Amino acid sequence: MDSMARILITSAIPYINGIKHLGNLVGSQLPADLYARFMRARGNEVMFICATDEHGTPAELAAAKAGQPVEQFCAEMHETQAEIARGFRLSFDHFGRSSSQRNHRLTQHFAGALAANGFIEEVSESQVFSIDDNRFLPDRYITGTCPNCGYDAARGDQCENCTKQLDPTDLINPRSTISGSTNLEVRETKHLYLKQRALRADIEAWIDSKTDWPVLTTSIAKKWLHDGDGLQDRGITRDLYWGVPVKKGDQPWPGMEGKVFYVWFDAPIEYIACTAEWADAHGLPDSAWQRWWRTDMGASDVRYVQFMGKDNVPFHTLSFPATIMGSREPWKLVDYIKSFNYLNYDGGQFSTSQGRGIFMDQALSILPADYWRWWLLSHAPESSDSEFTWENFQSSVNKDLADVLGNFVSRITKFCNAKYGPAIPSSGTLDDRARALIADLETRVRAYETFMEEMEVRKAAAELRAIWVAGNEYLQSAAPWTVFKTDPEAAAAIVRLSLNLVRLYAVLSEPFIPDAAATMLRDMGTDDRSWPGDIATALEALPAGHAFTVPEVLFRKITDEEREDWAQRFAGVRA
Ligand code: 2FM
Ligand code: ZN
Repeated sequence: MDSMARILITSAIPYINGIKHLGNLVGSQLPADLYARFMRARGNEVMFICATDEHGTPAELAAAKAGQPVEQFCAEMHETQAEIARGFRLSFDHFGRSSSQRNHRLTQHFAGALAANGFIEEVSESQVFSIDDNRFLPDRYITGTCPNCGYDAARGDQCENCTKQLDPTDLINPRSTISGSTNLEVRETKHLYLKQRALRADIEAWIDSKTDWPVLTTSIAKKWLHDGDGLQDRGITRDLYWGVPVKKGDQPWPGMEGKVFYVWFDAPIEYIACTAEWADAHGLPDSAWQRWWRTDMGASDVRYVQFMGKDNVPFHTLSFPATIMGSREPWKLVDYIKSFNYLNYDGGQFSTSQGRGIFMDQALSILPADYWRWWLLSHAPESSDSEFTWENFQSSVNKDLADVLGNFVSRITKFCNAKYGPAIPSSGTLDDRARALIADLETRVRAYETFMEEMEVRKAAAELRAIWVAGNEYLQSAAPWTVFKTDPEAAAAIVRLSLNLVRLYAVLSEPFIPDAAATMLRDMGTDDRSWPGDIATALEALPAGHAFTVPEVLFRKITDEEREDWAQRFAGVRA
C-alpha cells in the first residue's frame, strides 16, 4: 500500500433505542475499528465515522416507554452509547447523531436534488389513523384478529400465528398497539417515493464493476436486484413527529407538511453529515469534510470502506447508492463493503427486543475491553454465522491472551529483571535459532499485513496468534534460564531479542487489544510505535541499556466458577 493513502471508514450507525449487544458490535463497529487502527498504524490518513441512528418509530416508542420526550431520550442514549464506545476503545474520529442539523439539511438537500432530477414521485395512499394517539399507525403497530385463523393478536402486516401476510384493513377489531385504542379511521395521506427502478441500470453496472467485493455482500445485492420483482420504488416519507421534516432543499414541500423522511433515507446520509459534524466540532471549514466526500473536492483519492451486518447490505448496495446517483452530484460512492453474518448466543440468537445475550455495558462490567475485542474479532462471523459460548470464551482468553501473550511478556521481563536488572542487557550475538525465528516472523508479519489489508479478520487474528506462539516457542527452546548458568553472554542475546519482541508484539497487536498494547509499550519505556519493515531491524529498536519495568499481569485467567456464574447470570432475559 502506498504511504499516506486516505481511507474513509464508516460503521453502520447503531439504533438509538437501546444499548447494543455483542452481536451488533462484532458486525460493524468493532471490525471497523480494527481496520481504522491498522490503517493509522501503517501511516495512512484515516477518517473513521460512526453515529447514533435516532429516527423512526422504535425511537419514539422507546422514549415513550422510558417516559421521556424523544429529544431528551435520544440525547441521553447518545451519551450512553458514546460512553460505552469509549469503553470498548472504538476510535471514531467522530461519533455523531443522525438528528443533527447537519443531517437535517443534507437529507433535505438530497431529497430536493432527487426531485429536481425527476426521481421523486408523490403518491396518495390510505393509511390507518389513530384518533386517540393523534397519529398515523405503521402497519405493524396495528393489532387485531386474523381473518384467516382467528388469532386475536395478529399484526397489521402479518399474522404471527398462521404467517398470512395481511393488510391492516383486513384485521377484525383493529386497535392501536401503542395505546390499545380502537378509535381508528382510514385517512388519505400523501407520500414521496424514490424511483429506484429508474436508476436500476446505473446501480447494476456499478455493482457489476465491484468484482473484488466479498461474496456475502455481492450475493445479497444481486438477490435484491434480480429476485422477485427486483428493485422497487421506495417510500421515503412517514407520518411521524420525530425525524427530518420533509423539505425540498431549504424550501417547503407543498402537501408534505408535518411529515418526516423515513429513517432509512436519512440514516446513511448521516455518514456524510457526521463528517461535517466532525469538521464543525474542530472549527474547520466545509472543505475539510468535503475533501472526504466530494469528488470535485479531492475525494477521488479516498478509499471508502463500509462495515455492516448482512441485514444492512441492501440499503448500502441499492438504496443509498440510488440516493447518491440520483442526486447527479459528485458525491463519493463506497469502494468496498465488508459485511458480516450473525453472531449467535449460546444456542440461540442475540436479541435486543427480547433482551437475550450480553449487552455492551454488561460485558464491560465483568471484564475489560481487550478480552472481548480479542474473542469477538478472532471469532468474527465472516464466512458463516458464529456462536458465543462461555466455554469457548474462557478457553480463548486463557489460552491465547494469558498463556501465550501474557505469559511470554511476564516470563521474559521477570527473568531479565532477576538476572540482569531492569534494562536491556548488552553483549552476545544472535544464533541460528534466533535467525530462524526472525525469518519465520518476517513471513508471518507480511501475511498478517495482507490479511488486515483484505479485512480477513479471523485470518488476521490467527496469524497474530501464531506470531505470539512463535515467540513463546522460541523462548521455551532457547531457554535463557539454562544458558545463563554456563554462558550469560549468549543468554543476554536471547533476552535482548525477546524484550524487543515485546515491543514488536505491542505494535502488531494494538488494533486488536489496544489497552494491553499501550501497557506493554509503557512498561518497555518506549513510544516507538513504528510499524515493522524489516523484522531484524525492528527487533533492534530497544538498544542495550534501555530501561523497562516488569508489567503487572497483562491478562488474568477466567476461572471455572466465574464462567459458570456468568453463564447463569446471562442465561435469562435482560430486565
Ligand atoms: O441496523 C441498524 O442498526 C441500522 N441502524 C443501521 C443503519 S446504517 C446506515 F445506513 F446509517
Ligand atoms: Zn392467522
